[in-house]
Amino acid sequence: MSERDIDELSGIETTGHEWDGIKELNNPLPRWWLWTFYGTIVFAIGYTIAFPAWPLISSATSGVLGYSSRADHAAEVAAAEAAQGGTIARIAELPVADILADPNLTRFATAGGKSMFKVYCSQCHGTGATGAAGYPNLNDDEWIWGGTIDQVYASIAHGARSPVDPDTHYSFMPNFGADALLEKPQLAVVAKQVASLSGIEGGEDTEEGRLLFADNCASCHGERGEGVIDIGGPSLNDSIWLYEGTLAGIEAQLERARHGVMPAWHARLGEASVKQLAIYVHGLGGGQ
Ligand code: HEC
Ligand code: HEC
Repeated sequence: MSERDIDELSGIETTGHEWDGIKELNNPLPRWWLWTFYGTIVFAIGYTIAFPAWPLISSATSGVLGYSSRADHAAEVAAAEAAQGGTIARIAELPVADILADPNLTRFATAGGKSMFKVYCSQCHGTGATGAAGYPNLNDDEWIWGGTIDQVYASIAHGARSPVDPDTHYSFMPNFGADALLEKPQLAVVAKQVASLSGIEGGEDTEEGRLLFADNCASCHGERGEGVIDIGGPSLNDSIWLYEGTLAGIEAQLERARHGVMPAWHARLGEASVKQLAIYVHGLGGGQ
């Protein structure tokens, strides 16, 4: 092996190993490859010293740089919360009109209000705020308690007939039938009168009906049944009904009045949340 053995065919030096006449050519690895390979080994050793790497029984070596992706994540979350906290504090401070004048704040508030609505409101008002029997639709432009941003804010903050909020909306329709405030024939006449206001089947516009309505109902529902927002008397002259929009439904409400309870949210969710909810609801399309 002291002699260099050159392969005849390729002209390349062999290693001197030979099996049944087959010789191994001595083709060393290219230098650049070898150095890259050594480089990766050095890098790997350095990496496992610097960063968390070797598994131990219940944890892993932490590495001399003290890096941790969890700490990184926690720092990012803290930064995001701090940024939001600033925005939420501004929403709590600013009058609603100022928030609505700022497109960024409005966008932030609408998104926040939308996600809170799903949690706190959709059980009663429906996911799309389309309402259900007894629970008003919040998309349309008919409002029991008013559709300006301040009125919507007040409805959400203090609710309606809330037993715990002294500023809650309050109004009760008398039980005209059950408490015998009107006689049976009068009830029938005024029910037909109401039905006639929106063209419900069985409705009848009569002189007596008009008088009964003016005397007993107009104070809360408006002279033409258009509703009275200050009193929370819903409109009776359109096709939007809290309960049933049928003659039987009107008669039932006259016999014994149903009243919806809307919880008061200010004490529970705070100023910023109520503002965000109000901005979201107001922006659904029916806001005035
Ligand atoms: C327990 C059922 C219930 C929940 C939960 C509820 N509401 Fe209501 N809400 C009502 C009822 C009932 C009314 C109608 C009150 C009335 O008849 O005077 C109402 C009325 C309203 C009104 C006034 C509508 C109008 O026409 O003037 C707004 C605005 C409103 N709700 C928003 C919300 C928001 C926002 C939430 C969630 C934070 C919410 N509601 C949660 C039952 C509920
Ligand atoms: C003191 C005020 C008050 C008076 C007076 C009053 N109502 Fe009402 N009425 C209300 C309120 C408040 C509601 C809504 C209850 C609720 O929000 O859940 C209502 C609801 C109704 C409804 C159901 C509306 C719907 O959308 O489903 C009908 C129908 C109705 N009233 C008819 C009458 C008639 C007819 C009279 C007169 C004989 C009358 N009301 C007198 C306050 C009044």
